[in-house]
Amino acid sequence: MSTIKNICCIGAGYVGGPTMAVIAHKCPDIKVTIVDLNAERIAAWNDEDVNNIPIYEPGLAEIVASARGRNLFFSTDIDKAIDEAEMIFISVNTPTKTYGVGKGMAADLKYIELCARQIAAVAKNNKIVVEKSTLPVRTAEALKNILDNTGNGVKFQILSNPEFLAEGTAVQDLLSPDRVLIGGGTDAEGQVAIKALVDVYANWIPSERILTTNVWSSELSKLTANAFLAQRVSSINAMSELCEKTGADVEEVARAIGMDSRIGSKFLKASVGFGGSCFQKDILNLVYIAKSYGLSEVADYWEQVIIMNDHQKKRFASNIVRTLYNTVSGKKIAFLGWAFKKDTNDTRESAAIYVADDLLFEQANIAVYDPKVKSETVYRDLDYLGTRGSAENKENVSVFNDPYGACKDAHAIAVLTEWDEFKSYDWQKIYDNMKKPAFIFDGRKILDGSKLQQIGFIFSEIGK
Ligand code: NAD
Ligand code: UGA
Repeated sequence: MSTIKNICCIGAGYVGGPTMAVIAHKCPDIKVTIVDLNAERIAAWNDEDVNNIPIYEPGLAEIVASARGRNLFFSTDIDKAIDEAEMIFISVNTPTKTYGVGKGMAADLKYIELCARQIAAVAKNNKIVVEKSTLPVRTAEALKNILDNTGNGVKFQILSNPEFLAEGTAVQDLLSPDRVLIGGGTDAEGQVAIKALVDVYANWIPSERILTTNVWSSELSKLTANAFLAQRVSSINAMSELCEKTGADVEEVARAIGMDSRIGSKFLKASVGFGGSCFQKDILNLVYIAKSYGLSEVADYWEQVIIMNDHQKKRFASNIVRTLYNTVSGKKIAFLGWAFKKDTNDTRESAAIYVADDLLFEQANIAVYDPKVKSETVYRDLDYLGTRGSAENKENVSVFNDPYGACKDAHAIAVLTEWDEFKSYDWQKIYDNMKKPAFIFDGRKILDGSKLQQIGFIFSEIGK
């Protein structure tokens, strides 16, 4: 089973879609079929107009267009794709559990287990099963137990191949990753399986960037990488609050420390708080795992990253209330940005949701503009919190198609996402149409504060 000709990927989401599209693009001899239970999502991936694919990522539509219908297929026929494939990637969601033991912390593995059971039920010949989803360390053991106990004689090899792409730069990250990590069994069969996957990536990735380890190291490395990245953001955000009290400027501090090659300059941008579907979920999962082994100091250490992040979001909202003379009741606050970062339409765990929630508690009226996020997503995000009814969210939050409309008659503007276009707006025009005094709270540190102050805005940014 060394040369792979047929790949199936279960899960056509933010990871499965782009990852497999790039494999298909780079490996024209491999047939790649991405399957999902969600028929609507699959239909969108198959939309005649490639610009309507369900995920916005710069460069992704072109990659999909290059391979779709040639060796890249999107389907809801999961059984067929499993049956045909020699290698099956599992790329389904692994959200934080919302019930039972580990509620609010542990990863919910029910979707993973369903995949394993479906593979076990359908497979008629030996297969390599690849964990692409982010999973707790030792999940491969559970997968193997399920797969090996079907009594149909099929042999499975389990590999861990976590994905390190970041949204907004997914295509670039996949075309030229810092590394690809593949964990597998240390026995001869495990090594053969590892080599089969190494050979797929070797079609475009230099061998020195393909790292192989045992399966547990690979699983744990993914959680560790996300914990370290998020920890840097929380660390600089902690310093941002101290900067505000002391007259230091967090950007200058970040530059000064980042020039130390041992620290490095990336991921030191103070912000309103990190969002995204993974940092929080993966750290909570890590905390849960540490606790389950009785490692309370390890658990507490990492939990602090989340505590700091929650604090950063909260203090951004409370600063708005305080600055607006201790009340935002009935005031219009324009939100520029709703996505958790620029260049994506993904809003999962976006700081904007939590800042909005806090301001809604204070009876603000919120006007949202985001270049890529649809209004139904904004309402869905707020409704999902469950802090108030959907009718109330609709009444107090409006979503605009243009930034000037969102800012018109606003008392304040809050920048929640670092979209480039915000920098080039006609800020004089925006100022002229706002209530005075006109406030801006830059949660992303992207606007030119001194220029805005010259126009007349009262400008406030994190860490200064
Ligand atoms: P997603 O929610 O966008 O996509 C998951 C898809 O799996 C959904 O479309 C869902 O319908 C489908 N699915 C669930 N159960 C299924 C089943 N039994 N059969 C068929 N389809 C099923 O999630 P995502 O953002 O792509 O994340 C997937 C995994 O990758 C997670 O473990 C996540 O932690 C990890 N990850 C995500 C990112 C990211 O940037 N989003 C990056 C690295 C790793
Ligand atoms: C992150 C990791 O960077 C990926 O390597 C990983 O694969 C992925 O999580 C995952 O497992 O899902 P992503 O969440 O897409 O990727 O985006 P990031 O660029 O990491 O940003 C995460 C959040 O941190 C965003 O809200 C961003 O605005 C914030 N951030 C990031 C800062 O506030 N400051 C920084 O300096 C960097």
